[in-house]
Amino acid sequence: MTSDSTRDDPRVTRRALLGGAGAVAATGLITACGPGTGSDDAVGAAEPTTTQPPGPDAQVVAAVADVPVGGGVFLESDRLILTQPTDGDFHAFVAICTHQGCNITDVEGDRIICTCHGSVFDLDGVPVEGPAKKPLKTRAIEARGTDLVVG
Ligand code: FES
Repeated sequence: MTSDSTRDDPRVTRRALLGGAGAVAATGLITACGPGTGSDDAVGAAEPTTTQPPGPDAQVVAAVADVPVGGGVFLESDRLILTQPTDGDFHAFVAICTHQGCNITDVEGDRIICTCHGSVFDLDGVPVEGPAKKPLKTRAIEARGTDLVVG
């Protein structure tokens, strides 16, 4: 019989969570925090939003100047949507629709559009039209100088 005494210890989980939250606050991490809708949408329903800063494997994916304020861009090479709703407030999303998993490639003005069934998301990744009920899955993103780094 094997037992991991830390696995069942609720203090370990709490400490880990609080440590993660502190790291977020200390680094000025920029992430999207869309509200959950409580729906059982097919894609991404159980996936939490990212709350950790980009890790050591983080990569530069774009320049700050590539993402317009009040808009966004699709990065085909990384399958990411980057947005900047307000100056300096960057978000990164996995470019997969939370409705039925279509690839999202369109950002028009302040809307992220899935052309499969017409779901539309705002620049925070929150669904505002169409069948998708869950926000887009986020990735950790940070502005480092003139670069945008995603982990
Ligand atoms: S898969 Fe995007 S709207 Fe259906």
